[in-house]
Amino acid sequence: MRNPCRATQICTAFLCVLSAVRYTVEGTNTTAVLNNILNGYDKRLRPNDTGPPVRIKIVVYIESMEGIRESTMDFSVTMYLRMFWRDPRLSFEGDQTIIFKSGDMDNVWIPDVVFLYEKQSKVHSVTQMNRLLRVDPDGSVAYSSRVSATLACNMMLQRFPMDSQKCTIVMSSYAYSTRDVMLYLEEDSIQIEPGITISKFSLTGSDIANAEVPYLLGNYSTPKCHFYFMRQMESFFLTVYIPTVLLVSIAWLSFWIDAKAAPARVALGITTVLTVTTMTAGIQDTLPVVTYAKAIDIWLAVCLLFVFFSLLEYGMANYLLVVQTRREKKKARDIEQSPSKEGERDPAITSVEGGDCCRQRPQLWTAHRLDCLARWSYPAVFIMFNVFYWVYFLVF
Ligand SMILES: *[C@@H]1O[C@H](CO)[C@@H](O)[C@H](O)[C@H]1NC(C)=O
Ligand SMILES: *[C@@H]1O[C@H](CO)[C@@H](O)[C@H](O)[C@H]1NC(C)=O
Ligand SMILES: *[C@@H]1O[C@H](CO)[C@@H](O)[C@H](O)[C@H]1NC(C)=O
Repeated sequence: MRNPCRATQICTAFLCVLSAVRYTVEGTNTTAVLNNILNGYDKRLRPNDTGPPVRIKIVVYIESMEGIRESTMDFSVTMYLRMFWRDPRLSFEGDQTIIFKSGDMDNVWIPDVVFLYEKQSKVHSVTQMNRLLRVDPDGSVAYSSRVSATLACNMMLQRFPMDSQKCTIVMSSYAYSTRDVMLYLEEDSIQIEPGITISKFSLTGSDIANAEVPYLLGNYSTPKCHFYFMRQMESFFLTVYIPTVLLVSIAWLSFWIDAKAAPARVALGITTVLTVTTMTAGIQDTLPVVTYAKAIDIWLAVCLLFVFFSLLEYGMANYLLVVQTRREKKKARDIEQSPSKEGERDPAITSVEGGDCCRQRPQLWTAHRLDCLARWSYPAVFIMFNVFYWVYFLVF
């Protein structure tokens, strides 16, 4: 039992000596380096305090986009915000890179970048604050933090749901004007996680813009990342456009039902009107209240008009039917009173019993004739509307 114990002790001692040798030969005493560079470092002063403005390159790596909400007109994005600048005070002798974790970087100057038009945001903090600072021997500093932000996005919904949207991340330094700090983006500053998906939209592109905005307290650099989105409208086809086309078609069917079958036609008419109304209300719930008409509003309103027209048409047809029945009764009475006119028949009655309804004397409107007219004019007008609607919203 003694021998293995001693062997372990010898081994441990040997490893200790080995690691000590390695440390002193290869490594730099990082503690000493850190003490050295932070000694006399004033974190209240920007790098090169008296010199030209410090130029800070920003790189945004988009990790995910949590959708674009029309009802609140904003979008959420999770990203790695990376900033690169030079701080000559942090340069040191050596060849390794010093890494500061979240808490340790409090003694170093860091730019105070804010997101303009931000509603809510946070730096992720599991398991520790997701921030790091990396310093190279020449004083180059790289900063990275993982941020989720909800940002306002002005949306134009006139063409909804055939619309495209442009949302922007605008950054700025809160305290330093362009005399002290210049934030800028370069062509490679927007990086997007491959295969990113956004609910309801597809990302069609992105670009950058470096701008300078004059505020009351000076000019501030405000680099912008623009993102372009196109709505994927396939789901609207399935949930709005096809169902409403079917409802309009059902309302059209009622022109083939005998005008005397009042319960059938009234039920059909009212059901379609109510269904379109309910659908409209359901869709409006998910959209922001805007004062102008959206493309989908126009569609739903026109569909409602069509189904309402079919109900209205039945009202008129029913009235004509009443008039016609009265006329027939009168005719029958007349025939009873004068049997000599037996051969003659009312053209209206002929038409009801069959024959070509559309080739009649125009002054005699009957329920059947009105239905006949509606049978072809109703779909014709609807198809015409469709041509205008889709050409206008999809082509122009
Ligand atoms: C590193 O430097 C610190 C402070 O100068 C010193 O206390 C420590 O002993 C040094 N460590 C090594 C391994 O030299
Ligand atoms: C710091 O400022 C001086 C002028 O005051 C300039 O020559 C130098 O290039 C500046 N250094 C950096 C890193 O900007
Ligand atoms: C801001 O920029 C404008 C034009 O670029 C310039 O005329 C103006 O003097 C600047 N203001 C300050 C405070 O630097």
